[in-house]
Amino acid sequence: HGRAFNDPFVQKEKEKLSYDLVPMKNGGVGVKVMYMDEEHIFSVEQISAMLLTKLKETAESNLKKPVTDCVISVPSFFTDAERRSLLDAAQIVGLNCLRLMNDMTAVALNYGIYKQDLPAPEEKPRIVVFVDMGHSAFQVSACAFNKSKLKVLGTAFDPFLGGRNFDGKLVDYFCAEIKSKYKLDPKAKVRALLRLYQECEKLKKLMSSNSTDIPLNIECFMNDTDVSGKMNRSQFEELCADLLQRIEMPLLSLMEQTQLKVEDVTAVEIVGGATRIPAVKERIAKFFGKDVSTTLNADEAIARGCALQCAILSPAFKVREFSVTDATPFPISLLWNTEAEDTEGVHEVFSRNHAAPFSKVLTFYRKGPFELEAFYSDPNGVPYPESKIGRYIIQNVAAQKDGEKSKVKVKVRVNTHGIFSVSTASMVEPVKSEESEDVNVETEVESQDQRPIENSSDTNEKKGDQPPEAKKPKIKVKNVDLPIEANLVWELGKELLNMYIETEGKMIMQDKLEKERNDAKNAVEEYVYEFRDKLSGPYEKFVCEKDLQGFSALLTETEGWLYEEGEDEAKQVYVDKLEDLKKLGTPIETRYQEAEERPKLLEELGHRLQYYATIAGEFRNKDEKYIHIDEMEMMKVEKCVSEVVEWMNNAVSAQAKKSLDQDPAVHSSEIKAKLQELNNVCEPVVTQPKPKVDSPKEENPLNERSDFKPEDMGEDEKNSEMPQQNGECHPSDQNTISMDLD
Ligand SMILES: *[C@@H]1O[C@H](CO)[C@@H](O)[C@H](O)[C@H]1NC(C)=O
Ligand SMILES: *[C@@H]1O[C@H](CO)[C@@H](O)[C@H](O)[C@H]1NC(C)=O
Ligand SMILES: *[C@@H]1O[C@H](CO)[C@@H](O)[C@H](O)[C@H]1NC(C)=O
Ligand SMILES: *[C@@H]1O[C@H](CO)[C@@H](O)[C@H](O)[C@H]1NC(C)=O
Ligand SMILES: *[C@@H]1O[C@H](CO)[C@@H](O)[C@H](O)[C@H]1NC(C)=O
Repeated sequence: HGRAFNDPFVQKEKEKLSYDLVPMKNGGVGVKVMYMDEEHIFSVEQISAMLLTKLKETAESNLKKPVTDCVISVPSFFTDAERRSLLDAAQIVGLNCLRLMNDMTAVALNYGIYKQDLPAPEEKPRIVVFVDMGHSAFQVSACAFNKSKLKVLGTAFDPFLGGRNFDGKLVDYFCAEIKSKYKLDPKAKVRALLRLYQECEKLKKLMSSNSTDIPLNIECFMNDTDVSGKMNRSQFEELCADLLQRIEMPLLSLMEQTQLKVEDVTAVEIVGGATRIPAVKERIAKFFGKDVSTTLNADEAIARGCALQCAILSPAFKVREFSVTDATPFPISLLWNTEAEDTEGVHEVFSRNHAAPFSKVLTFYRKGPFELEAFYSDPNGVPYPESKIGRYIIQNVAAQKDGEKSKVKVKVRVNTHGIFSVSTASMVEPVKSEESEDVNVETEVESQDQRPIENSSDTNEKKGDQPPEAKKPKIKVKNVDLPIEANLVWELGKELLNMYIETEGKMIMQDKLEKERNDAKNAVEEYVYEFRDKLSGPYEKFVCEKDLQGFSALLTETEGWLYEEGEDEAKQVYVDKLEDLKKLGTPIETRYQEAEERPKLLEELGHRLQYYATIAGEFRNKDEKYIHIDEMEMMKVEKCVSEVVEWMNNAVSAQAKKSLDQDPAVHSSEIKAKLQELNNVCEPVVTQPKPKVDSPKEENPLNERSDFKPEDMGEDEKNSEMPQQNGECHPSDQNTISMDLD
């Protein structure tokens, strides 16, 4: 990201890849891929955009809502160019990146926000060191925690030390062994080499938990040859001695920068897959003289930290107040020409580990436009070939009316993404010349440090916080905003960015169409397999011999078609095919389902008929329970019961004449309708409440207003005997949503 194709880092990386990197027109890095059967070259930003699209879709399908905001992590050693390039990738996808968060800061947030026992603000902060060795890099940071705040004190790194280097050692070892033992060269064939990498990674993991000899076996590795070898942990550690030695350096650098002693460190938290290697863990523990802790999930700690940061920044979530102050990994300086003499001025505006995000205001005295150049003050400490960050021309500067120099205030900033910018410039006019000439910028800088912008909102960049000096009452001043022309190292540019946005949009659309097409094809395939299975199982009895033969033949033919001429058809072709199959399949399926449901429904109908008939009988016998029901009403019940009995008898006998492979004489939907009809007529009659009898009661002031009557008990008991229907008796059951709170 954000590197030129001929960047030595890119060239080195290129050798290890199984795909081709090529230069882009703008000198950037392109990746050659086949897309829609054609060779395409995509920029690195586009490739990352594709990955982000995938992640966005995964998140959306899990959350079942659109995702627009995100927080993306970057290694803390990423320079401005790399960070901007990644932000461009997010923009290509239409993701609003609320913050680019340094890996280690994300880990620290994930650690701190859940800790209940952090010191109170007035107490001494707790110092925790985080160590991360992932696939490709080694990063460490020291953080100070208090109940509501985390501050990154310093970071250090080895950008070229990670799990893949350990895998590489194993690969080199086995390549040599395979060469001498089998006369095969895995490095000559990329596919074989990748397979060897995979197996070596597995071997490495096994060696982390087992110190005995572990075998490596790969069948049909190259030229139909099976290869095998073995390795044990102590052998492996010897092989990686030089890598293990490199662990100490960033740790030393961290302690030196932060002026911390190992005794100051309360805990050392390790994350990242490669910290599982026992020798790596041991080295870290030995350095700090204490056991390392593994409180955090080694693989997910960073992603979780980002999710938490995103929740904090988003208005949609309420998260406990927890402020995060990051540190600037590389010192940044500004360079300018002094107007009078032809000399240059330099000032380090952000020292190493300066709090970020942060803004500063610098004051210049000038008669015309001038240029500032920002660069990393310590190029050797930056893993990037270019120390320049950008050139900024402060435009529209003019002398005052009396010919004197104008006072120009320039705001420089490291923003929430860790990116430097000259964010605003303004000319103060009129200004009484207080001092003489090209004023001492340094002192101005020190006196005008502003508070860090803690809520990382960028909105206050344009206007707002005027430097306090401007408000001094003695002279009336006016601030005129000045345009700034910025020329940044490795900028994608609006035009290219817009083109990428458009291309990505088209590809997303294309993917969607392709997915629908595939789903349609899969639906046909699934139908064929599922139906064939069922035809020789549960559906067998529900299709006559002749139809079975015809349908089976069609299924077989369709299967063949799917792998031959129908392999790559338009979506509609598959949709039509499925329709054709369903014309034959659905009747069989229906007969089967009907036969499954019918007996149960008929039984239920029988029970209800019995139930109402019994009540009618009891009514005729003058049973106490139903004495209050009107005679006419009860006759309606009796009439309905006898009609439904007749209907049911007819249905049962008609159905008895049908064989299973014939369409049913009575459908379950009809039985359901009958059941409903019966209930609708009878239920209101038989459940009529008994009129309330004013029986004398003992006065109970508490129960005075309640409708509770001893008789009601009888009702309740009666109700509980009733067969339960469709859950109607217990509406509350339907409202109970069981939640799986994982
Ligand atoms: C601890 O908290 C207080 C108040 O919240 C803050 O001023 C102080 O700087 C914090 N200390 C650290 C190390 O973050
Ligand atoms: C590890 O392998 C080396 C070299 O093959 C061997 O000398 C050593 O005994 C082995 N150690 C264990 C614990 O198996
Ligand atoms: C270690 O690996 C060896 C070889 O694969 C195996 O026989 C042994 O059971 C393993 N031991 C443990 C503790 O997993
Ligand atoms: C492996 O196969 C390739 C091509 O089939 C052949 O050129 C090469 O000589 C073979 N190597 C060995 C060691 O047999
Ligand atoms: C955050 O920034 C906004 C806009 O600049 C400001 O109005 C608000 O007071 C700030 N909030 C905090 C907590 O600093």
